[in-house]
Amino acid sequence: MNKLENKVAIITGGASGIGNGIAKAFVKEGARVVIVDYNNEAGVQAIEELCEIQPKSIFIHADLADFSTHAMIINKTIATFGQLDVLVNNAQASRVKPLLELSTEDLELPFKTGFFPTFYLMQYAFPYLKETKGHIINFGSGAGINGDLNQAAYAAAKEAVRGLSRVAANEFGPHGVKVNVICPFGNSPGVQHWAQYKPDDFNEVLSKIPLRRVGDLENDIGKAVVFFASQDSDYITGQTLMVDGGGCRL
Ligand SMILES: NC(=O)c1ccc[n+]([C@@H]2O[C@H](COP(=O)([O-])OP(=O)(O)OC[C@H]3O[C@@H](n4cnc5c(N)ncnc54)[C@H](O)[C@@H]3O)[C@@H](O)[C@H]2O)c1
Repeated sequence: MNKLENKVAIITGGASGIGNGIAKAFVKEGARVVIVDYNNEAGVQAIEELCEIQPKSIFIHADLADFSTHAMIINKTIATFGQLDVLVNNAQASRVKPLLELSTEDLELPFKTGFFPTFYLMQYAFPYLKETKGHIINFGSGAGINGDLNQAAYAAAKEAVRGLSRVAANEFGPHGVKVNVICPFGNSPGVQHWAQYKPDDFNEVLSKIPLRRVGDLENDIGKAVVFFASQDSDYITGQTLMVDGGGCRL
């Protein structure tokens, strides 16, 4: 089980939630990971745990909404490891509000923390990913595909990421770089909070999911990302994979 042996992967938002599940799945497959997060405390704790499995993994403390961090993240990765094989653009922040109440700042938040970092990190990473014929995995959401209530800003940013990813797949494909999107449903702290405080809403959503459970961060979501990061998916690009128990159909 060393599908990512000798690979170096950047995972944004790797300090907690789905990003941390991905990081755990990656190091167990032999990858050295660079987790990027603005939560310094969670990042330091996460890297201690990851380094017990893969001692060469590192944490970069950065707020992705500060666009000047994007080149630094790629440069530090290359200075440390000399290569880049996988870029996972997972981090995202947003506010849940009815469309009619959204301010410009609300609308900008998921773009500044999700869409723009995805775009700039892909731009800066491309020269290195071209050398390794690497993989980019971006994150969409069923909320964007379904048009979930109160998610207008988030849905717009997530569908923008999917459109960007399809163009990147076409432009990067001739250079051997693959670009795919995952739309997850995973047991992150946000989902756990929702299940605890709005159990009726949560159970109604769960009742419509064919597999009737929330995805495990490492074993369900993380392993799907391992597939898109490994040579097992070398003939797949420009695709969206729903890793959500069957809850949303493309
Ligand atoms: N959890 C789900 O079921 C679900 C469903 C659909 C889509 N998604 C998508 O999957 C991805 C991960 O989701 P999650 O639930 O684990 O999210 P989360 O909010 O639990 O974790 C996001 C991580 O990103 C970090 N982060 C946020 N903004 C940042 C910034 N500006 N700079 C640096 N780090 C930042 C946070 O500190 C956190 O560690 C996101 O793109 C999300 O939109 C999740």
